[in-house]
Amino acid sequence: MIRHDILIVGNGLAGLAAALSADPKLSTAVISKVHPLRSHSVAAQGGVNAPLGNSPAGRDDSPERHAYDTVKGGDFLADQDAAELMCREAVPTIIELEHLGVPFSRFPGGVIAQRPFGGAGFPRTCYAADRTGQVMLHTLFEQALKRNVKLYNEFMVTKLVLKNGRCCGVVAYAYDRGEFVPIRARAVVFAVGGYGRLYLRTTNAYTTLGSGIGLAFQAGLPLKDMEFIQFHPTSLYGKNILISEAARGEGGYLVNCRGKRFMADYAPQAMELAPRDIVARAIQTEIDRGRGFEGEYVHLDLTHLGRDKILKRLPAIREICIKFAGLDPVETPIPIQPAQHYSMGGIDVGNDCATGVPGVFAAGECSCVSVHGANRLGGNSLLETVVFGKIAGRSASLYARGAGAGPAGAEKALQDGLRKVEKQVEGWEKRTEGVPIHHLLQRMKVLMTAKAGVFRDRKNLREAVDGVLQMRRDYGRVIRTGRNRRYSQEIVNIFEFEHSLELAEAITRGALHREETRGSHFRTDFPKRDDKKWLKHTLAYLRNGKVELGSKKVRFTKYKPEERKY
Ligand code: FUM
Repeated sequence: MIRHDILIVGNGLAGLAAALSADPKLSTAVISKVHPLRSHSVAAQGGVNAPLGNSPAGRDDSPERHAYDTVKGGDFLADQDAAELMCREAVPTIIELEHLGVPFSRFPGGVIAQRPFGGAGFPRTCYAADRTGQVMLHTLFEQALKRNVKLYNEFMVTKLVLKNGRCCGVVAYAYDRGEFVPIRARAVVFAVGGYGRLYLRTTNAYTTLGSGIGLAFQAGLPLKDMEFIQFHPTSLYGKNILISEAARGEGGYLVNCRGKRFMADYAPQAMELAPRDIVARAIQTEIDRGRGFEGEYVHLDLTHLGRDKILKRLPAIREICIKFAGLDPVETPIPIQPAQHYSMGGIDVGNDCATGVPGVFAAGECSCVSVHGANRLGGNSLLETVVFGKIAGRSASLYARGAGAGPAGAEKALQDGLRKVEKQVEGWEKRTEGVPIHHLLQRMKVLMTAKAGVFRDRKNLREAVDGVLQMRRDYGRVIRTGRNRRYSQEIVNIFEFEHSLELAEAITRGALHREETRGSHFRTDFPKRDDKKWLKHTLAYLRNGKVELGSKKVRFTKYKPEERKY
């Protein structure tokens, strides 16, 4: 049996940061469905926040101002001590990344360049043109290679195994062998990213179906604030590829079909640089009220920025537009529409990234610490991955060092888990009639986009919950059409869909339950924030195959809830 002290699930920025901060005396491995450079972190474009104060307009910035903007941007649902911790760690984290070799863009004079981003009081977002995630990921990957971190690529974890309430390890599907393998680990760190692919329109990679979050959910861990889904204001119309907030940070305008910069009606001071929830709703409102183009999109106009600025600061955006829309943003406005981008909710963890189960940790988008509250500010996600990835690596090391031999019977529990997984696959293969998985996947995406999108109400959310429950029944008849088990995308999809169902149920039930509007969760039937009733986190539990809801207090330090005005 493969054995490690720490197994990190997911090799994006949070996973690699965890691996690099783990105790080198322990045996640490990273397991993932893809090669590290294909993890979704690579797609992050616009930048990473830290109050360095390098821009002349940012001299008065500080960790306190960063924390305040983060808490306010999140509509006061963030745990304030967690947000403060992240913002305190931001400057040392950027300096550490720079020392590791991240090639940040520079201001004349050589200091790291910073640009304005939505909801931020100062230009605070450090960047490498518009490929920030890519260069950060490459740098951490190089460091992982240098330190001989063991990587299991093209392995999908299919089960988290616990014994007596403690972590034993996982069962994983090895793509190349077409086999299932048990892996013993004292500590498991989930760093699996989000679940954007539950939606039809998303900026997320095909791998982001949230199965790692579902594994934790199935093992009994609660999920927090799942109803809060971020819709990025600007995805390329029709393709939904991210068009970075950096384009607005550099001065881009949003314009409707009447030629009006409509953000003046929604956020007269911040304009295009209001927080994402506000900008996404403004765009959707313009489209819904007939002021979009062809009833489907508005324009992001960069033409006034000039060729040089676009080539220097936004080269990848230009390339995306040329390749995928056949237009050059130097000359032509970009057609854009909102698309799912990020999940504020996730596995409930404390500031040390520990879950309620000894030996199980989570960091990055799959977790909910919660630093983002009801709406994440652009540039805070990359920061979160590294800050909390590092914390998770340290916490898991501390645990693994003291865990001794682990729970009695751990290896037997893993063998039992393996048999269960193999039986599951045999069950799908034995069936001669049933539903192919791609039908269910498509139904899920259409349902979530139509019923649990930017604007929500009771009727649609009720239909969303019912639709998910119907799909749950249909999933009981799922059929495997292929028989080859090597590199089977069908096996991957069938496993993942079970988790998609659970997550979709947690999202839609949470959204139906929360009868208020806060951050990204906009209820047209309850359009006001209601702090008296709803200034609390939602917890979702999976009990006997059913999603049940509870709640948890928000932790406050010094930021009093106020009306968000931009
Ligand atoms: O728009 C962007 O570049 C995305 C940044 C983020 O999600 O933080």
